[in-house]
Amino acid sequence: MKVIRVKDQIEGGVAAFELLQEELKTGARVLGLATGSTPIAFYEQVVASDLDFSDLVSVNLDEYVGLGSESDQSYIYFMNEHLFAKKPFKVSYLPNGLAEDLDAEVERYNALLAENPVDFQILGIGRNGHIGFNEPGSPFDGLTRVVDLTPSTIEANSRFFEKEEDVPTQAISMGIASIMSAKTVVLMAYGANKAEAVYQMVQGPVTEDVPASVLQNHPNVYVIVDEEAAGRLENE
Ligand code: GLP
Repeated sequence: MKVIRVKDQIEGGVAAFELLQEELKTGARVLGLATGSTPIAFYEQVVASDLDFSDLVSVNLDEYVGLGSESDQSYIYFMNEHLFAKKPFKVSYLPNGLAEDLDAEVERYNALLAENPVDFQILGIGRNGHIGFNEPGSPFDGLTRVVDLTPSTIEANSRFFEKEEDVPTQAISMGIASIMSAKTVVLMAYGANKAEAVYQMVQGPVTEDVPASVLQNHPNVYVIVDEEAAGRLENE
């Protein structure tokens, strides 16, 4: 893991954008994308750039069960607003949170991931160390599936909803094995409430109790952190 320390989210977005440019030069074709507040500055860099994504494919990590593009809390809505409307890809895949047959949707997603192996994966991290919606205890060999969200994730994400009761309790999420098969992973984390998760991910034991710790086993991971999120790291 290469830890890159930055002043703030803006500088972090620039650092991630520079990594993306390098990967595009060496032929990256499929981008793995994430939602949440963390990658917004990165998407702003992308949108402001003259990069052309019309030949590239994007694959998102996850979507809430029960929410579709009409809902401003859905991840498809977030992606349209922050990226796709301004930088269209050849094709952009997200799990369909409104699918009637969730098993079929999971199968569809795993098949398209097998056809489009991710070259460059953007990640945030949950306060409990989750990546995508792979909550603590998720199997390291897991593929896309329907997951139950933990109370701590529901509480953390309730800031985007009117009331905590409105936060969906399930999501469709790419699994840890899918995330680990990306060629390059760039995880960003900002703020003191991520410090413990960052510490466990980088310097704690590799355990399913801290899903992001699996990234210690990945050969090409960049962790971009501000001072607060790096607050518990011992000098690397
Ligand atoms: C959600 C998403 C994750 C994201 C996490 C942190 O749970 N599924 O992909 O990393 O939230 O969000 P934020 O960046 O807003 O702290």
